Amino acid sequence: MDVQQIDITASHPLALPVGVTLDRYIMHRQTAFPYATGELSQLLRDIALAGKIIHREVNRAGLIDLTGGMGVQNVQGESQQKLDMIANIRFKRALTNGGEACAIISEEEEDIIYTGNNHGKYVVAMDPLDGSSNIDVNVSIGTIFSIYRRVTPIGSEPTLADFLQGGRRQVAAGYILYGSSTIMVYTTGHSVNGFTYDASLGEYILSHPDIHSPCTGQIYSCNDGNVDGYEDGVKEYLTDCRKKQYTARYIGSLVADFHRNLLKGGIYLYPPTKKSPDGKLRLLYEAFPLAFLAEKAGCLATSGNQAILDIKPSSLHQRTPLYIGAPVMVESLVDMLT
Ligand code: F6P
Repeated sequence: MDVQQIDITASHPLALPVGVTLDRYIMHRQTAFPYATGELSQLLRDIALAGKIIHREVNRAGLIDLTGGMGVQNVQGESQQKLDMIANIRFKRALTNGGEACAIISEEEEDIIYTGNNHGKYVVAMDPLDGSSNIDVNVSIGTIFSIYRRVTPIGSEPTLADFLQGGRRQVAAGYILYGSSTIMVYTTGHSVNGFTYDASLGEYILSHPDIHSPCTGQIYSCNDGNVDGYEDGVKEYLTDCRKKQYTARYIGSLVADFHRNLLKGGIYLYPPTKKSPDGKLRLLYEAFPLAFLAEKAGCLATSGNQAILDIKPSSLHQRTPLYIGAPVMVESLVDMLT
C-alpha cells in the first residue's frame, strides 16, 4: 500500500505553534523589570490557577449538583449560590497558599480576610464569581480581581487602609470570563492582554494581545426594566441610542457585558435606580478593576460626575453608579447628565 507523504512545512496548519502561554508571558514581562521580585507574577499565576479550577466546576456544575442557592444571602443581601461559595473558597485557598497576598476582600464576605501571610506585599479585592443570576442557566459568568501593593509595613497585620488606596494605585487588575470559552484578561498598568484557556493543555494561551478598544461603537448595555427610575439624562441618552438604531445587548453578567463591549465597541450602564440610589455595583472589586483595564485599553469609566478611578473609597463594599466603555459613547452620555 502506498503511504502518502504529507509535506508539513512550518506554515502548515498542523505545524503552527500553540502560542505563548500565560506563564511564559508573565515570566517574560517580569524580566523587563530588573527589580521585580517575582511576587506579583506568582500572585497572577495563583489567580489563573484558581480560575482553571472554577472553569472546571462551572463546566460540570449541572452534573454534580453545583447549581442552585445555598438558602442564605451574602453581605450584599443577594442570595448566595453554591458556585459563588465554591469560587470564594477556591480563590481564598489559592491566594493563602501562594503567600504573596497578606489579605483579601471578597464580595462574599463582610470583613477583611487575613491570609496569615503578614510578610506578603499585596492585597487583593475580588468578586470570585460575578453574575450570580446567570449561574443556574449556563450563561456566562466571571471572576474580577484587583491588586494593590500594601501601604502598611510588611510583617504587620494588614488594615482597611491597604484596601482604600483608590483605583489609581492598583498594580494589576483583570477578570476571568467563563463563557463559550474561558478567557483571562489582565493588565499590570501597561498593555491589556487576553489569554484563552485551552483545557486540553491546561494552559492559558495569549489570544488577544495588546487590546485596544474601538473609540466608539453601536452597542448599549443596561437593564431595561430599570429605565423608568433612571435620571433624565440617562433616559435621553438611551432614546438617542434607539433613534440611531444601536444594538441593545445585556447579559446581566458585568464581566461578559464588559468583555463584549471592550472588543466590539459599546457602553455598559448601571445608573442609580430607585432600588439602588447609589448604584448597584461595588467600587473596590467591580468598578475599580474594570475601570483600570478600561482606561489602559482606551475606554472611559465614570460614575457620572467623576472618573471611577478618582473616587476616594471609604468602605469595603461601597457601591457606585457605573458608565463604562467606548470613550465617544461615554462622553456623549456624560454631556446629557445634569
Ligand atoms: O454584581 C452585580 C451583577 O450581577 C453584575 O454582574 C450585573 O451586571 C448586574 O449585577 C446585573 O444586575 P441586574 O440584574 O440588576 O440587571
